[in-house]
Amino acid sequence: MAFKTIEWKGDTLMLLDQRILPIKEFMRSCPDAGSVTEAIKTMVVRGAPAIGVTAAFGLVLAVQAAVRRKRPWRPLFLKAAADLAATRPTAVNLFWAIDRMSRLAATLSDDDAAGAADRLEREAKQIYAHDVEVNKAMGAHGARLLKSGDSVLTHCNAGALATAEYGTALGIIRAAVAAGKKIHVFVDETRPWLQGARLTAWELMKDDIPCTLITDNMAASLLAKGLVQAAIVGADRVAANGDVANKIGTYGVAVLCKAHKVPFYVASPISTIDPKIKNGALIPIEERDANEVTHLMGTRIAPAGVRVYNPAFDVTPARLVTAIVTEKGVLKSPYGAAIKGVCR
Ligand code: MRU
Repeated sequence: MAFKTIEWKGDTLMLLDQRILPIKEFMRSCPDAGSVTEAIKTMVVRGAPAIGVTAAFGLVLAVQAAVRRKRPWRPLFLKAAADLAATRPTAVNLFWAIDRMSRLAATLSDDDAAGAADRLEREAKQIYAHDVEVNKAMGAHGARLLKSGDSVLTHCNAGALATAEYGTALGIIRAAVAAGKKIHVFVDETRPWLQGARLTAWELMKDDIPCTLITDNMAASLLAKGLVQAAIVGADRVAANGDVANKIGTYGVAVLCKAHKVPFYVASPISTIDPKIKNGALIPIEERDANEVTHLMGTRIAPAGVRVYNPAFDVTPARLVTAIVTEKGVLKSPYGAAIKGVCR
């Protein structure tokens, strides 16, 4: 990749600051668990898999701090786990990564802080490597769904910036392009945070993948004109019945695709599937600050004091999803059975 989203330096986590892309490419240093927690909360790093990987390294930093300060490591680990879990409620990869690190921590001795730090560091590196592998596998499965000459609509950023590397939805596009297919991407700008305009367009252009930026309200007209052959989005959490929580606006794209008989694909690693959640109505949806809606890049665009509703995600019902691409293959309806099969 031409850039790194997350870079582990052994005692510091470096994160590409996504709040200031594409204007500046700046790696922000997170030397402790507190700064990692803050980075997730303030969206220095975002995207479900990237948040999970970042949290895993945050937990390593908590234990390394205990080693340096010669303090018992477990209370610092548990505090960091609780703080990280309270950052963003929707993307299940965060909880998946914290659980995985916590299950390992439960097997480690209280009396060997350095040993615990080493073992947890190895696990966090494995979580990173696993994410890259999974994205490549999803890419290989998903690329078969695209034909040369297709224009693909995407919403938000489900690329290398949202994962350890390669991406989920954009991973499928990368794999199709690598297989020699000519793919063009329509990029929804993705109000209010502009993940599409600021991040997806930036990373596609870095890879020389042809793309065209549109505002969110243009998608319907493109679909009506027959300019889009497929939509591919990522996911923050997939319920046991196949309902998909993803960036606000995704549901609208799915409805439009249904109306125009265009396939609507979701790229979701197994770590994004939450079989404990029965359906999408039970997925917690994060609400974010009103400023994200009333301001554009720091400039007010709405009257002071206006009431604002700013849910960061919506839920697309499974019936609108043509297929869910996972690292274990392409799942089709009925999703309940298909999801049970891969989550065993
Ligand atoms: O609020 P964000 O930017 O973290 O939301 C990100 C998304 O909705 C992505 O589509 C999703 O996390 C999948 S990323 C592979």
